[in-house]
Amino acid sequence: MLLRIIQDIALMSGIGILLALIMVIAQRWLSNYGEVAININGKRDLTVTGGSSLLSSLGEKQIFLPSACGGRGTCGACKCKVLEGGGPILPTERPLLTKSEMADNVRLACQVKVKNDIQIQIPEDIFNIRRFHSQIEEIVDYTYDIKGITFKLLDGETIDFKAGQYVQIETQPYAKIKEKVMRAYSISSKPEIKDRIQLIIRYVPEGICTTWVHKYLKVGDKVYFTGPYGDFYLRDTNADILFVAGGSGKAPIKSMLEHLKEVGTTRKMTYFFGARSTKDLYLTEEMRALEEHFADFKYVPVLSNANAEENWQGKTGYVMPYFKEAIHDPQNTEAYLCGSPGMIAGVKKSLINDYGVAEEKIYYDSFG
Ligand SMILES: Cc1cc2nc3c(=O)[nH]c(=O)nc-3n(C[C@H](O)[C@H](O)[C@H](O)COP(=O)(O)OP(=O)(O)OC[C@H]3O[C@@H](n4cnc5c(N)ncnc54)[C@H](O)[C@@H]3O)c2cc1C
Ligand code: FES
Repeated sequence: MLLRIIQDIALMSGIGILLALIMVIAQRWLSNYGEVAININGKRDLTVTGGSSLLSSLGEKQIFLPSACGGRGTCGACKCKVLEGGGPILPTERPLLTKSEMADNVRLACQVKVKNDIQIQIPEDIFNIRRFHSQIEEIVDYTYDIKGITFKLLDGETIDFKAGQYVQIETQPYAKIKEKVMRAYSISSKPEIKDRIQLIIRYVPEGICTTWVHKYLKVGDKVYFTGPYGDFYLRDTNADILFVAGGSGKAPIKSMLEHLKEVGTTRKMTYFFGARSTKDLYLTEEMRALEEHFADFKYVPVLSNANAEENWQGKTGYVMPYFKEAIHDPQNTEAYLCGSPGMIAGVKKSLINDYGVAEEKIYYDSFG
């Protein structure tokens, strides 16, 4: 009887192993698409090995589409036109594509698999995005959960970017995290500094990249990043400016203010910084020094959750009601917003509906 049971177990295990082997061979055979061609903008032809996503196939050839969510299909940053060879739109793409985008062949490059020759269209300025090698030069604790980190470029490289743009850093495997990931971070230093960049990174509990940055990264470590990305950058006009940021959303605004100092602006500017309590405030002295420097600049921190012991004398609650002190000429006001998706949605709605600021003059980067 016991022998029979052992024979049955051995037979079942054998069948299991055989099936697994067939699956592996079938998968290798099915996903072996050989060499395929990617034609870009009707001009350039790349040859890649089929089977990977369009996003990573382009990345292998040093063409870096923005991919703020790291290819998870949640940010929509990697949209591009696939004119031929992309196959049908996948269910994972639909939530991020409008009807007119779908009709216009727009796809998510991180979801489209390159299986055969494919024709795509991407903006020409994507070719200016590069991959940089850098070394961590300084790590500063701004608050209990926000660090400022300086990346010195290696190999004599320099970076050109507009104040407000972002880069994507590549993590290294650590602890249980076996894969590298890419995450987007706004550059907080001014564009006039070209041989290093500073980022401001807030710790997200359980977050893959921010845990690596806050608990593993140290001065001297080498890090790769790509960039610059994004259309959230300071417009060169004379309009009044309203800056609104929360948490690490201070990063691109810092870059913009330092750039404006560099070019000697006289624009009227007000900066509302939303935080929960005094322990979430940082770089306050630097902002006060800018108030002294600029002809017409006010920095207004607003706390949503200050408790009595903090003895906070400043503004409290939501930032929106205080805009009336700052917006005098809505037709001539630009707004730059940066922070959580919820904050951006609320502020944008209020600026349009309550204050009459034109939607096309509201620029934002959502960190969600
Ligand atoms: C254009 C752009 C610029 C950005 N710039 C900055 C910046 O300058 N500084 C900065 O700190 N961050 C910035 N971010 C956010 C950053 O890219 C990451 O999303 C964030 O740091 C979390 O990464 P992670 O790998 O640690 O977390 P993940 O491993 O991606 O996420 C872990 C969990 O946390 C949740 N989560 C993700 N992000 C947040 C968040 N911000 N708050 C709360 N929960 C979250 C996720 O839903 C998930 O459940 C930016 C994002 C974008 C799109
Ligand atoms: S990289 Fe974020 S949706 Fe494609």
